Amino acid sequence: MSSSPATTLGVLGGGQLGRMFASAARTMGYDVIVLDPDPYSPAAHFATTHLCAPYDDPLALERLAMGCAAVTTEFENAPSSALEYLAQHVPVRPSSEAVAIAQDRIREKTFFRDHGFPVAPFLAVENLEEFQQRAHEIKYPAIIKTARFGYDGKGQFRVETPEEAVIVLSTQPGLIPAVVETLVPLRLEISVLLARSPNGQTALWPVAENRHQGGILDLTIAPARIRDELASRATRIAVEIAERLQYVGVLAIEFFVTGIDTLLINEMAPRPHNSGHFTLDTCITNQFEQQVRALCGLPLGSTEMMKPAVMINLLGDLWQKAPPPWEIVFQEPDAKLHLYGKKEPRPGRKMGHITLLANSANEALEKALRLKAALESGSGKRNGAS
Ligand SMILES: Nc1ncnc2c1ncn2[C@@H]1O[C@H](COP(=O)(O)OP(=O)(O)O)[C@@H](O)[C@H]1O
Ligand SMILES: [Mg+2]
Repeated sequence: MSSSPATTLGVLGGGQLGRMFASAARTMGYDVIVLDPDPYSPAAHFATTHLCAPYDDPLALERLAMGCAAVTTEFENAPSSALEYLAQHVPVRPSSEAVAIAQDRIREKTFFRDHGFPVAPFLAVENLEEFQQRAHEIKYPAIIKTARFGYDGKGQFRVETPEEAVIVLSTQPGLIPAVVETLVPLRLEISVLLARSPNGQTALWPVAENRHQGGILDLTIAPARIRDELASRATRIAVEIAERLQYVGVLAIEFFVTGIDTLLINEMAPRPHNSGHFTLDTCITNQFEQQVRALCGLPLGSTEMMKPAVMINLLGDLWQKAPPPWEIVFQEPDAKLHLYGKKEPRPGRKMGHITLLANSANEALEKALRLKAALESGSGKRNGAS
């Protein structure tokens, strides 16, 4: 069953991902209902209707169930009870089962390991006593990650020894349930972004290369500068995961690359992903249009990339003194500015991004680093800029 334009789509969550979904859907002629408790939800302006209510609000969920042809989510923390209720009335894509696995690091990592997908050695911590007995089973240093509601490196602690892990787990409120995971020597981080439709059609974008700073994505280089063999190994794993989950929608899989091209899965996102924002400016079908297509049961669009690109995240830190000097961005003819309409530029908050296009990934990276440095120094001048 497919939903044609001129029907209404629903989305749980109205942050920047919901905003870009709503923008894509409305461009294609759909109406969009956004459910988000934030009165300043970035998606609200792009939505036909903003339901400003909690994600488990029965009335709001009923309006979504009755008013929408299909419903999706922009974030993995949507309550599974809400998705299950909606699924009794309308297609919900991705399914509440897939979202439930992705929203809990213990379930997610256990799912990968049990199905033979490679992950870093980890221990699931449901209670402290059990962990104390098993703490030595993995190597240290390690990272403790809270199992739920962590993002952008939040709720994570590096520990050097099992003893330190026990201290952190017993003193940080709300950290358990958690995973304790061996710190692996990263050579590179990459992500695979794919879409899968209800009839099993799969579309893959070029593999992306990601650089993080302080646990937050800093920039994405696309296509990743890796060997073809590594790229096809990563995409094969990602497609197998999507098949295994009978996944419908856009799915991102983050990988660590260690040693000589060894792949470890870090995590998955059951939605469009920050590292896929380059698709907005340089792919025939971007990740948000594809999300609409998969949600509606339409054929997937071409993921062909027209030019290499680098995406730079703009965090609230850039606003410390004053709004960044945007004229520097506009002076660069191959740069595309995206701002998410967020009122408060807090440090670490994703306020927008810039995509830089070029004839090669290396050239795009050079331009991006120059532009980023100029924005950070706020000088308004770039050395040797044309
Ligand atoms: N086991 C690990 N070894 C080395 N680096 C890691 C490990 N786990 C996380 N990191 C670093 O921290 C970043 C954020 O961790 P991640 O688990 O993806 O959390 P989040 O859900 O907050 O994105 C990763 O992209 C990586 O750079
Ligand atoms: Mg991550």
